Amino acid sequence: MRSNSLQYKEFAPQERRSAATGEAAVQARDDVGPEHQREELLTGLHAVEPSINSKFFYDSAGSELFARICHLPEYYLTRTEAGILSDNSRTIAATLGTVGSVIEPGAGGCEKIRHLLKDLAPGVYVPMDISADYLERAAQQLRAEFEALRVLPLTADFNRELQLPGAALQGRRLLFYPGSTIGNFTPEQAQWFLRRCAKMLGPGSGLLIGVDLHKDSAILNAAYNDAQGVTAAFNRNILHHANRILDADFEPQNFEHLAFYNKPQHRVEMHLVSSVEQTVQYQGGALGFAAGDSIRTEYSCKYSREDFVHLAAVAGWRNLACWTDSQEWFSVQYFEVE
Ligand SMILES: C[S@@+](CC[C@H](N)C(=O)[O-])C[C@H]1O[C@@H](n2cnc3c(N)ncnc32)[C@H](O)[C@@H]1O
Repeated sequence: MRSNSLQYKEFAPQERRSAATGEAAVQARDDVGPEHQREELLTGLHAVEPSINSKFFYDSAGSELFARICHLPEYYLTRTEAGILSDNSRTIAATLGTVGSVIEPGAGGCEKIRHLLKDLAPGVYVPMDISADYLERAAQQLRAEFEALRVLPLTADFNRELQLPGAALQGRRLLFYPGSTIGNFTPEQAQWFLRRCAKMLGPGSGLLIGVDLHKDSAILNAAYNDAQGVTAAFNRNILHHANRILDADFEPQNFEHLAFYNKPQHRVEMHLVSSVEQTVQYQGGALGFAAGDSIRTEYSCKYSREDFVHLAAVAGWRNLACWTDSQEWFSVQYFEVE
Protein backbone atom coordinates (compact mmCIF):
# COMPACT_ATOMS: atom_id res chain seq x y z
CA MET A 1 0.00 0.00 0.00
CA ARG A 2 1.60 3.29 -1.06
CA SER A 3 -0.89 5.64 0.51
CA ASN A 4 0.90 6.50 3.72
CA SER A 5 4.44 6.17 2.47
CA LEU A 6 6.72 9.13 2.95
CA GLN A 7 8.18 10.58 -0.17
CA TYR A 8 11.42 12.44 -0.57
CA LYS A 9 11.84 15.13 -3.16
CA GLU A 10 14.02 18.14 -3.79
CA PHE A 11 12.20 21.40 -4.29
CA ALA A 12 12.99 25.00 -4.98
CA PRO A 13 11.61 27.16 -2.19
CA GLN A 14 9.93 30.39 -3.16
CA GLU A 15 10.65 33.33 -0.92
CA ARG A 16 8.02 35.94 -0.19
CA ARG A 17 7.96 38.82 2.28
CA SER A 18 5.50 39.35 5.07
CA ALA A 19 3.69 42.62 4.43
CA ALA A 20 3.65 43.32 8.16
CA THR A 21 7.35 42.97 8.92
CA GLY A 22 9.32 42.55 5.73
CA GLU A 23 10.68 39.34 7.29
CA ALA A 24 11.26 36.52 4.81
CA ALA A 25 8.63 33.79 4.84
CA VAL A 26 9.65 30.80 2.80
CA GLN A 27 6.97 28.94 0.92
CA ALA A 28 7.81 25.47 -0.31
CA ARG A 29 5.61 25.78 -3.36
CA ASP A 30 5.94 22.29 -4.87
CA ASP A 31 5.30 20.64 -1.52
CA VAL A 32 1.84 21.92 -0.91
CA GLY A 33 0.87 22.62 -4.52
CA PRO A 34 -2.43 21.30 -5.93
CA GLU A 35 -0.93 18.78 -8.38
CA HIS A 36 1.16 17.06 -5.75
CA GLN A 37 -1.77 17.03 -3.30
CA ARG A 38 -4.15 15.62 -5.91
CA GLU A 39 -1.77 12.81 -6.80
CA GLU A 40 -1.18 11.92 -3.16
CA LEU A 41 -4.89 11.96 -2.31
CA LEU A 42 -5.84 9.76 -5.27
CA THR A 43 -3.07 7.27 -4.52
CA GLY A 44 -4.40 6.89 -0.99
CA LEU A 45 -8.07 6.74 -1.94
CA HIS A 46 -7.53 4.12 -4.63
CA ALA A 47 -5.41 1.86 -2.38
CA VAL A 48 -6.75 -1.56 -1.34
CA GLU A 49 -7.23 -0.11 2.15
CA PRO A 50 -8.22 3.48 1.32
CA SER A 51 -6.64 6.25 3.37
CA ILE A 52 -6.12 10.00 3.40
CA ASN A 53 -2.90 11.26 4.98
CA SER A 54 -3.70 13.11 8.21
CA LYS A 55 -2.00 16.27 6.93
CA PHE A 56 -5.14 16.84 4.81
CA PHE A 57 -7.10 17.55 8.00
CA TYR A 58 -5.40 20.90 8.15
CA ASP A 59 -6.98 23.41 5.83
CA SER A 60 -7.97 26.65 7.61
CA ALA A 61 -11.23 25.15 8.91
CA GLY A 62 -9.41 22.01 10.06
CA SER A 63 -6.78 24.04 11.93
CA GLU A 64 -9.58 25.96 13.70
CA LEU A 65 -11.33 22.70 14.60
CA PHE A 66 -8.08 21.27 15.95
CA ALA A 67 -7.67 24.38 18.13
CA ARG A 68 -11.13 23.62 19.58
CA ILE A 69 -10.18 19.97 20.16
CA CYS A 70 -7.20 21.16 22.22
CA HIS A 71 -9.62 22.72 24.74
CA LEU A 72 -12.00 19.76 25.04
CA PRO A 73 -12.20 18.10 28.47
CA GLU A 74 -11.61 14.63 26.99
CA TYR A 75 -8.52 15.71 25.02
CA TYR A 76 -5.97 15.40 27.82
CA LEU A 77 -2.99 15.68 25.46
CA THR A 78 -2.72 19.45 25.03
CA ARG A 79 -3.26 20.51 28.63
CA THR A 80 -1.02 17.72 29.96
CA GLU A 81 1.86 18.58 27.66
CA ALA A 82 1.43 22.33 28.22
CA GLY A 83 1.49 21.65 31.99
CA ILE A 84 4.75 19.69 31.69
CA LEU A 85 6.34 22.51 29.65
CA SER A 86 5.26 25.33 31.92
CA ASP A 87 5.98 23.49 35.20
CA ASN A 88 9.48 22.57 34.04
CA SER A 89 10.42 25.46 31.76
CA ARG A 90 13.45 26.54 33.81
CA THR A 91 14.85 23.03 34.17
CA ILE A 92 14.18 22.34 30.52
CA ALA A 93 16.05 25.52 29.49
CA ALA A 94 18.96 24.65 31.79
CA THR A 95 19.14 21.11 30.37
CA LEU A 96 19.01 22.31 26.77
CA GLY A 97 21.74 24.96 27.21
CA THR A 98 22.28 27.72 24.68
CA VAL A 99 19.94 27.56 21.70
CA GLY A 100 20.30 29.89 18.69
CA SER A 101 17.27 28.78 16.72
CA VAL A 102 14.14 26.73 17.37
CA ILE A 103 12.59 24.88 14.43
CA GLU A 104 9.07 23.57 15.01
CA PRO A 105 7.49 21.22 12.43
CA GLY A 106 3.70 21.26 12.61
CA ALA A 107 3.69 24.40 14.76
CA GLY A 108 -0.01 25.15 14.13
CA GLY A 109 -1.02 28.05 16.37
CA CYS A 110 2.54 28.38 17.83
CA GLU A 111 1.10 27.99 21.33
CA LYS A 112 3.47 25.61 23.07
CA ILE A 113 6.69 27.47 22.30
CA ARG A 114 5.33 30.32 24.43
CA HIS A 115 6.01 28.22 27.54
CA LEU A 116 9.73 28.13 26.71
CA LEU A 117 10.60 31.44 25.10
CA LYS A 118 11.34 33.38 28.28
CA ASP A 119 13.75 30.84 29.74
CA LEU A 120 15.22 29.57 26.48
CA ALA A 121 15.58 32.97 24.77
CA PRO A 122 16.46 31.80 21.23
CA GLY A 123 17.18 34.45 18.57
CA VAL A 124 15.24 32.74 15.78
CA TYR A 125 12.03 30.70 15.68
CA VAL A 126 11.02 28.83 12.52
CA PRO A 127 7.45 27.53 12.85
CA MET A 128 6.68 25.19 9.99
CA ASP A 129 3.23 24.01 8.94
CA ILE A 130 1.20 22.87 5.98
CA SER A 131 -1.72 25.14 6.93
CA ALA A 132 -0.34 28.36 5.41
CA ASP A 133 -2.83 31.06 6.43
CA TYR A 134 -3.29 29.74 9.94
CA LEU A 135 0.50 29.63 10.39
CA GLU A 136 0.98 33.15 9.07
CA ARG A 137 -1.61 34.54 11.50
CA ALA A 138 -0.05 32.68 14.43
CA ALA A 139 3.43 33.90 13.46
CA GLN A 140 2.27 37.51 13.27
CA GLN A 141 0.73 37.29 16.71
CA LEU A 142 3.91 35.82 18.16
CA ARG A 143 6.03 38.58 16.58
CA ALA A 144 3.83 41.19 18.20
CA GLU A 145 4.24 39.54 21.61
CA PHE A 146 7.97 38.75 21.44
CA GLU A 147 9.57 41.67 19.66
CA ALA A 148 13.16 40.47 20.13
CA LEU A 149 12.45 37.15 18.44
CA ARG A 150 12.91 36.67 14.68
CA VAL A 151 9.91 34.61 13.61
CA LEU A 152 10.38 32.99 10.18
CA PRO A 153 7.32 30.91 9.25
CA LEU A 154 7.80 28.20 6.67
CA THR A 155 4.89 26.69 4.77
CA ALA A 156 6.04 23.18 3.98
CA ASP A 157 5.16 19.51 4.12
CA PHE A 158 7.51 18.00 6.66
CA ASN A 159 7.12 14.61 5.00
CA ARG A 160 9.32 15.93 2.26
CA GLU A 161 12.75 17.46 1.90
CA LEU A 162 13.11 20.37 4.31
CA GLN A 163 15.08 23.43 3.37
CA LEU A 164 15.54 25.85 6.23
CA PRO A 165 16.13 29.59 5.92
CA GLY A 166 19.81 30.49 6.47
CA ALA A 167 19.03 32.29 9.73
CA ALA A 168 17.78 29.00 11.23
CA LEU A 169 21.19 27.44 10.73
CA GLN A 170 23.13 30.03 12.71
CA GLY A 171 23.91 28.96 16.26
CA ARG A 172 22.84 25.77 17.96
CA ARG A 173 19.57 24.32 16.67
CA LEU A 174 16.68 22.86 18.59
CA LEU A 175 13.97 20.85 16.89
CA PHE A 176 10.80 21.36 18.93
CA TYR A 177 8.16 18.79 18.04
CA PRO A 178 5.28 18.85 20.53
CA GLY A 179 1.64 17.79 20.20
CA SER A 180 2.33 14.06 19.84
CA THR A 181 2.50 14.79 16.10
CA ILE A 182 5.27 12.15 15.89
CA GLY A 183 2.50 9.64 16.72
CA ASN A 184 0.86 10.30 13.35
CA PHE A 185 3.76 8.44 11.76
CA THR A 186 4.05 4.67 12.05
CA PRO A 187 7.13 3.78 14.18
CA GLU A 188 9.11 3.05 11.00
CA GLN A 189 8.15 6.39 9.46
CA ALA A 190 8.94 8.17 12.75
CA GLN A 191 12.41 6.67 12.74
CA TRP A 192 12.91 7.76 9.13
CA PHE A 193 11.74 11.30 9.94
CA LEU A 194 13.99 11.60 13.01
CA ARG A 195 17.01 10.24 11.14
CA ARG A 196 16.47 12.81 8.39
CA CYS A 197 16.15 15.62 10.97
CA ALA A 198 19.36 14.52 12.72
CA LYS A 199 21.18 14.66 9.39
CA MET A 200 19.73 18.05 8.51
CA LEU A 201 20.46 19.69 11.88
CA GLY A 202 23.90 18.21 12.57
CA PRO A 203 25.85 16.97 15.63
CA GLY A 204 25.05 18.64 18.96
CA SER A 205 21.59 19.79 17.86
CA GLY A 206 18.72 19.15 20.25
CA LEU A 207 15.28 17.59 19.96
CA LEU A 208 12.52 18.38 22.48
CA ILE A 209 9.59 16.17 21.60
CA GLY A 210 6.13 15.45 22.99
CA VAL A 211 5.34 11.74 23.09
CA ASP A 212 2.00 10.35 24.22
CA LEU A 213 2.32 7.30 26.49
CA HIS A 214 0.42 4.03 26.90
CA LYS A 215 -2.65 4.30 29.11
CA ASP A 216 -6.06 2.87 29.74
CA SER A 217 -8.02 2.29 26.51
CA ALA A 218 -11.09 4.08 27.91
CA ILE A 219 -9.14 7.35 28.30
CA LEU A 220 -7.85 7.09 24.74
CA ASN A 221 -11.22 6.20 23.27
CA ALA A 222 -12.84 9.17 25.03
CA ALA A 223 -10.11 11.57 23.86
CA TYR A 224 -10.86 10.85 20.20
CA ASN A 225 -14.67 10.60 20.59
CA ASP A 226 -15.61 13.77 22.43
CA ALA A 227 -19.18 14.30 23.55
CA GLN A 228 -19.58 17.58 21.61
CA GLY A 229 -18.65 15.92 18.31
CA VAL A 230 -15.80 18.32 17.51
CA THR A 231 -13.44 15.47 16.62
CA ALA A 232 -16.11 13.97 14.36
CA ALA A 233 -16.47 17.34 12.59
CA PHE A 234 -12.66 17.57 12.30
CA ASN A 235 -12.55 14.08 10.80
CA ARG A 236 -15.33 14.80 8.26
CA ASN A 237 -13.77 18.14 7.33
CA ILE A 238 -11.01 16.21 5.57
CA LEU A 239 -13.61 15.37 2.88
CA HIS A 240 -14.43 19.06 2.33
CA HIS A 241 -10.72 19.64 1.84
CA ALA A 242 -10.51 16.64 -0.54
CA ASN A 243 -13.49 18.02 -2.50
CA ARG A 244 -11.62 21.25 -3.17
CA ILE A 245 -8.37 19.58 -4.17
CA LEU A 246 -9.98 16.90 -6.36
CA ASP A 247 -12.99 18.87 -7.57
CA ALA A 248 -14.97 16.01 -6.05
CA ASP A 249 -18.43 15.57 -4.55
CA PHE A 250 -17.85 13.70 -1.29
CA GLU A 251 -20.86 14.21 0.97
CA PRO A 252 -19.29 14.26 4.45
CA GLN A 253 -22.63 13.53 6.17
CA ASN A 254 -22.64 10.16 4.37
CA PHE A 255 -19.56 9.09 6.36
CA GLU A 256 -19.51 8.20 10.07
CA HIS A 257 -16.65 9.16 12.37
CA LEU A 258 -14.95 6.07 13.85
CA ALA A 259 -12.07 6.30 16.33
CA PHE A 260 -10.77 3.48 18.54
CA TYR A 261 -7.67 2.33 20.35
CA ASN A 262 -6.05 -0.59 18.55
CA LYS A 263 -4.32 -2.04 21.61
CA PRO A 264 -2.13 -4.68 19.93
CA GLN A 265 -0.73 -1.99 17.59
CA HIS A 266 -0.52 0.68 20.35
CA ARG A 267 -2.32 3.26 18.23
CA VAL A 268 -5.57 5.17 18.03
CA GLU A 269 -7.04 4.87 14.55
CA MET A 270 -9.48 7.30 12.97
CA HIS A 271 -11.62 6.30 10.03
CA LEU A 272 -14.55 7.61 8.02
CA VAL A 273 -17.04 4.83 7.39
CA SER A 274 -19.46 5.04 4.48
CA SER A 275 -23.00 4.84 5.87
CA VAL A 276 -24.57 4.11 2.46
CA GLU A 277 -23.59 2.66 -0.89
CA GLN A 278 -22.34 5.64 -2.86
CA THR A 279 -20.23 6.81 -5.77
CA VAL A 280 -18.04 9.86 -5.39
CA GLN A 281 -17.16 11.66 -8.61
CA TYR A 282 -13.96 13.64 -8.98
CA GLN A 283 -12.46 15.39 -11.97
CA GLY A 284 -11.17 12.54 -14.12
CA GLY A 285 -12.64 9.55 -12.25
CA ALA A 286 -14.89 8.05 -9.59
CA LEU A 287 -14.68 6.14 -6.31
CA GLY A 288 -17.26 3.54 -5.23
CA PHE A 289 -18.04 2.84 -1.57
CA ALA A 290 -20.29 0.09 -0.19
CA ALA A 291 -22.00 0.75 3.15
CA GLY A 292 -19.38 -0.06 5.82
CA ASP A 293 -16.34 0.68 3.62
CA SER A 294 -13.85 2.85 5.42
CA ILE A 295 -11.20 5.47 4.71
CA ARG A 296 -8.43 5.64 7.31
CA THR A 297 -7.61 9.24 8.16
CA GLU A 298 -5.21 9.03 11.11
CA TYR A 299 -2.95 6.91 13.26
CA SER A 300 -1.93 8.24 16.63
CA CYS A 301 0.73 5.88 17.94
CA LYS A 302 1.37 5.62 21.67
CA TYR A 303 4.71 4.60 23.19
CA SER A 304 6.36 3.55 26.41
CA ARG A 305 9.18 5.90 27.39
CA GLU A 306 11.73 3.15 26.82
CA ASP A 307 10.39 2.19 23.40
CA PHE A 308 10.53 5.77 22.21
CA VAL A 309 14.09 6.23 23.53
CA HIS A 310 15.07 3.13 21.60
CA LEU A 311 13.32 4.30 18.40
CA ALA A 312 15.10 7.66 18.57
CA ALA A 313 18.48 6.03 19.36
CA VAL A 314 18.28 3.99 16.15
CA ALA A 315 17.61 7.28 14.31
CA GLY A 316 20.79 8.85 15.77
CA TRP A 317 19.43 10.70 18.82
CA ARG A 318 20.79 10.20 22.38
CA ASN A 319 18.28 10.60 25.20
CA LEU A 320 19.32 13.07 27.90
CA ALA A 321 16.14 13.86 29.83
CA CYS A 322 12.44 13.14 30.16
CA TRP A 323 9.67 15.04 31.93
CA THR A 324 6.19 13.64 32.56
CA ASP A 325 2.98 14.56 34.36
CA SER A 326 2.09 12.97 37.70
CA GLN A 327 -0.08 10.29 36.02
CA GLU A 328 2.60 9.51 33.42
CA TRP A 329 0.12 10.02 30.59
CA PHE A 330 2.41 12.17 28.45
CA SER A 331 6.14 12.73 28.15
CA VAL A 332 8.37 15.54 26.94
CA GLN A 333 11.69 13.99 26.04
CA TYR A 334 15.04 15.61 25.24
CA PHE A 335 17.63 14.19 22.86
CA GLU A 336 20.78 15.35 21.11
CA VAL A 337 22.25 14.24 17.81
CA GLU A 338 25.04 11.74 18.58
C1 LIG B 1 -1.49 17.45 16.15
S1 LIG B 1 -1.35 19.08 15.49
C2 LIG B 1 -0.16 19.77 16.65
C3 LIG B 1 -0.14 21.27 16.64
C4 LIG B 1 0.81 21.90 17.67
N1 LIG B 1 2.18 21.56 17.39
C5 LIG B 1 0.43 21.46 19.07
O1 LIG B 1 1.30 20.89 19.73
O2 LIG B 1 -0.68 21.71 19.50
C6 LIG B 1 -0.38 18.77 14.06
C7 LIG B 1 0.10 20.03 13.32
O3 LIG B 1 1.00 19.61 12.28
C8 LIG B 1 0.61 20.17 11.04
N2 LIG B 1 0.93 19.16 10.04
C9 LIG B 1 0.38 17.92 9.92
N3 LIG B 1 0.97 17.25 8.92
C10 LIG B 1 1.91 18.09 8.39
C11 LIG B 1 2.85 17.96 7.35
N4 LIG B 1 2.95 16.84 6.63
N5 LIG B 1 3.68 18.99 7.09
C12 LIG B 1 3.59 20.15 7.81
N6 LIG B 1 2.71 20.33 8.82
C13 LIG B 1 1.89 19.31 9.11
C14 LIG B 1 -0.85 20.48 11.15
O4 LIG B 1 -1.27 21.52 10.30
C15 LIG B 1 -0.99 20.82 12.65
O5 LIG B 1 -0.78 22.19 12.86
